[in-house]
Amino acid sequence: MKFKKIAALAATAVLTVGIFAGCGGASQQTSSSNSSSKKKVIGFAQVGAESGWRTAETSSIKEIPKLDPNFELKFSDGQQKQENQIKAIRSFIAEKVDIIALDPVVETGWDTVLKEAKNAKIPVVIVDRNVKVADNSLVTAFLGSDMEEEGKRAAKVVIDKFGKDAKLNIAELQGTVGSTAMIGRQKGFNETIKDCPNYKIIKSQTGDFTRAKGKEVMEAFLKSDGDKINVLWSHNDDMAVGAIQAIEEYGKKPGKDIFIVSVDGIKDMFKLMADGKSNGIVECNPLLGPQLVETSKQVLSGKLKDKIVHTKEGVFTQDQAKKELPNRKY
Ligand code: AHR
Repeated sequence: MKFKKIAALAATAVLTVGIFAGCGGASQQTSSSNSSSKKKVIGFAQVGAESGWRTAETSSIKEIPKLDPNFELKFSDGQQKQENQIKAIRSFIAEKVDIIALDPVVETGWDTVLKEAKNAKIPVVIVDRNVKVADNSLVTAFLGSDMEEEGKRAAKVVIDKFGKDAKLNIAELQGTVGSTAMIGRQKGFNETIKDCPNYKIIKSQTGDFTRAKGKEVMEAFLKSDGDKINVLWSHNDDMAVGAIQAIEEYGKKPGKDIFIVSVDGIKDMFKLMADGKSNGIVECNPLLGPQLVETSKQVLSGKLKDKIVHTKEGVFTQDQAKKELPNRKY
């Protein structure tokens, strides 16, 4: 097996622009507790709590006031619903926070509310997943992973194992439909396997990034095509963990009868990899709190260095999983 750990991509600056004129800044009025303490307030609109990755991201974001006591955090859990996230953003605007940080459940549908934030002169930092808006000035900065690259890396894991000419039937567990994590990973994977004439995606359905749905969908895949599936490509670890249970209950050996690759790098998946039940992890780094502090400081001082910052990530094989397991923080 010819796996390569991809060298960490140290905070890749893709594009540098200034923040939009007049946004945020030291003079911004914030919530009453904030104005008395003079702390800067970040309002964070989180997607939900659907996966181990998400829990790790939430913990990292909640560390912000400890990382830098000059910041206060207002946190909102959107419970996987865009309407809840929009409501949270409107509350942050009403409370006059200094920065709005949004981890958007899906890419589209943000133009109106982000225009409201811009009109209120509150800078918006997009975290993890991205948004698609007609006017790019609605977004001050983005920090997170390159999801398309993650999909490409997952496909390379499969190609490294089987070669481009192999005949493979692939089952795909998609993430939340319309999210950058789903769109980017699917695009990157599909583009990469275009060079492999006999790779076929015979099953593809969303498991909404959760363990329970991953198991449920995999059970259905196995019921209809259990004997045909050679590879499981899962857009995240949690769905793959659920699918591994389904594969075992079906009487097959995950990691042996079905080759498995997934994205994230949570501890549970590292354990399964170390036990030989999965084959490849494409890492997606959820520890975004420190980077959000750094970006927020730059935005508030009017000295934003990079409008887009991509996080560090690697690829892990079974051999590497055992070694790496004791170091995993989430
Ligand atoms: O947006 C990041 C993705 O969302 C992670 O891969 C997944 O686990 C989470 O739910």
